[in-house]
Amino acid sequence: MMNQFGGNWTEAKMKIVVDYAKAYLTIMNKQSWAKTLYFDGFAGSGLIEVDEYNEAVKGTALRILDIEQPEPFDIYYFVEKEDEYFEALKQNIKINYPNKDNAFVVKGDCNTKLFDMANFLKRDINYRALAFIDPYGMSVNWNSIESLKGLGVDLWILVPTGLGVNRLLKTDGNISDAWLNKLEQFLGLPRSEIINHFYSKTTVNTLFGNETFVNKEKSAIQKAGVLYTQRLKTVFEFVSQSFVMRNSNNSIMYHFMMATNNTAALKIANDVIKPNYKL
Ligand SMILES: C[S@@+](CC[C@H](N)C(=O)[O-])C[C@H]1O[C@@H](n2cnc3c(N)ncnc32)[C@H](O)[C@@H]1O
Repeated sequence: MMNQFGGNWTEAKMKIVVDYAKAYLTIMNKQSWAKTLYFDGFAGSGLIEVDEYNEAVKGTALRILDIEQPEPFDIYYFVEKEDEYFEALKQNIKINYPNKDNAFVVKGDCNTKLFDMANFLKRDINYRALAFIDPYGMSVNWNSIESLKGLGVDLWILVPTGLGVNRLLKTDGNISDAWLNKLEQFLGLPRSEIINHFYSKTTVNTLFGNETFVNKEKSAIQKAGVLYTQRLKTVFEFVSQSFVMRNSNNSIMYHFMMATNNTAALKIANDVIKPNYKL
């Protein structure tokens, strides 16, 4: 059982997370008091099928479990909502990583589990977490992200700016109530602010008097990346640059970024992003 999605960008994204995790562990291992948690909110089955290779490759979850040097995480927590993928990941770990009895695979919704992690970190103050949020679409609610405020979490998040937000922002500004609700839930902003961010109004003197037209910003996808970065900065002290993922038509699909309260972590994130552009 595997997830299907494609391309070099998938490989680059996984490499960023694994490179970051190694640097993170190197630093955390020097703090003898600290315990480390790896949280994966959209873990998948453990295997992914990359179109170009026409074969299954290890997904991020297994690549993180493969890290032996530096000394690995104290706990792994993998969340997967779909039965089939959840069972597959559980099996995969049981068979291939029999010694990792500190790896928990849970079936559920990432949103709920982010709240649970926040509570855990408040209770168990020696824990520091590296979280990876890798959804296809807009399934992470803003209030789940907000629950992490003030905690020792470094959060890598894939933001569906092109494949999510931009699709809901209709060119004529005529957005259904359901879509506006979705945008509000995702961005944690009232619809008026969202509309102001992405649309401008022009009033033109026409035959019938003054008429107002609504224009969508040309670079709406990039603006969505900037907006999400701004939103994260209300919860975390620092947000990295974005690793921008495009499809074969060169359209932006996602902005991938890291949020943290730690300056050293910010520097590492920006460092691991850069060389991966060359993949
Ligand atoms: C992009 S894939 C994850 C790929 C994985 N991170 C990897 O690198 O191998 C997204 C996964 O999230 C699962 N999923 C979708 N919605 C979810 C939710 N609300 N909570 C948890 N998992 C979810 C999907 O079933 C799918 O397996």
